Amino acid sequence: MNVHIVTLFPEFFDTPLRSGLMGRALDSGLLRVDMVNPRDFTYDNHRSVDDRPYGGGPGMVMLAAPMSEALRSIERPGKMLLLSPKGRPLDQELAKELSASQDLTLVCGRYEGMDARLERIFPLEPVSVGDYVLNGGETGALCLLEASARLIPGFMGHGASAEDESFSQGLLEHPHYTRPEEFEGLRVPDILLSGDHGRIEAWRREASLRETVLRRPDLLPGVSLTEGESRMVGGLLGPRLGRGLYIVLLHYPVVDKLGEVRTMSLTNLDLHDIGRVSRTYGLGGFFAATPLEDQRELAERLLSHWTVGPGAKANPDRAEALSRVSVVKDLDGAIRRIQERSGQRPWIVATSARPGGGLTVRQVRRMLKDQPVCLILGTGRGLAPQVIRQAHGTLAPIRGLEGYNHLSVRSAASILMDRILGDTD
Ligand SMILES: C[S@@+](CC[C@H](N)C(=O)[O-])C[C@H]1O[C@@H](n2cnc3c(N)ncnc32)[C@H](O)[C@@H]1O
Repeated sequence: MNVHIVTLFPEFFDTPLRSGLMGRALDSGLLRVDMVNPRDFTYDNHRSVDDRPYGGGPGMVMLAAPMSEALRSIERPGKMLLLSPKGRPLDQELAKELSASQDLTLVCGRYEGMDARLERIFPLEPVSVGDYVLNGGETGALCLLEASARLIPGFMGHGASAEDESFSQGLLEHPHYTRPEEFEGLRVPDILLSGDHGRIEAWRREASLRETVLRRPDLLPGVSLTEGESRMVGGLLGPRLGRGLYIVLLHYPVVDKLGEVRTMSLTNLDLHDIGRVSRTYGLGGFFAATPLEDQRELAERLLSHWTVGPGAKANPDRAEALSRVSVVKDLDGAIRRIQERSGQRPWIVATSARPGGGLTVRQVRRMLKDQPVCLILGTGRGLAPQVIRQAHGTLAPIRGLEGYNHLSVRSAASILMDRILGDTD
């Protein structure tokens, strides 16, 4: 692979390119790297490569002319990648794709970046190494170069080692151990000493799944799992966050369309749909709260039809979902039941379609790590102000793309559960 690095600081790459496997790949000719410095394409006394931005503002911008001459001087540039925080995130898939390149050009920005016209003149594809800002593209170019070069056949000597590393199967890698068998009282897992390669492989796959579930659950949707593995992942994910989350659907005090505080009627649809969502995401429970005794009795009758009556035989899936639903008088009743079940006082999080709530989904996930969370949803036009005041915080509203966000409480429950517990991170 021939890599052309366009940089104002070629010396930046001296040591990294001479060290370890990278140095060996260069010595063996598996990899060739040449530096192209835009400063070599300047014609004024100061050899200027930057100027002030049009429109004012801090910082300097890389001049178009030296950069464009530098890029045109590369005979066979191959793909032209521009290191930029705005780019496609660098990941193992991209590294793999690039490792098959004959030629590759990496363009390193400095200052505030380059004159934007260069991106219209050259087919520059922006690539980012993370959501943070570096002083220049050189550090990113090194990451990209190293991640791709080590996937060139022959780079690592032992062909298989890149195959079972983190990300290569979409998962994080299993832990490794070496001599001695015991260190500071900690023994290497027995199975690794058993010499049984089949069991060792199975242990490694399971350990790899565990690592991924615990550290990077966002990677899981891209991984193909056997049925048994899916169950194991579900089991690991569920208790971790979902079991600590409870939904309380309040029918009082809520407001109607005129803003008056009222009691709303309980609906069969809400019980079924939110019950099914609660089961799908492995919640600790779903409480329907109404102060009206006849409505509570009606709800209990409906539920028992599906959980123990004729409905349970006809539709066991529904029975499983509705067995998570409890009927209580009010929010305090639900909180008491959550405390009894979890042994902890929950965080109380209100929801509202109106702007004002500042809690983010990420904050709720963080709360769930150390305490149960009771998420309150309101019927009618939403929770009355006194409920919102009583909560520890209010979740930011679900935002539509066109200003309209009048969702049914069932839809809101589904969207929020998927945002908090789903694997669409
Ligand atoms: C100081 S940064 C400029 C940041 C730019 N003003 C912005 O806010 O997006 C200078 C150069 O560093 C490189 N760079 C900085 N952060 C990066 C990242 N996360 N990924 C890839 N390149 C990055 C880019 O080449 C960029 O042009």
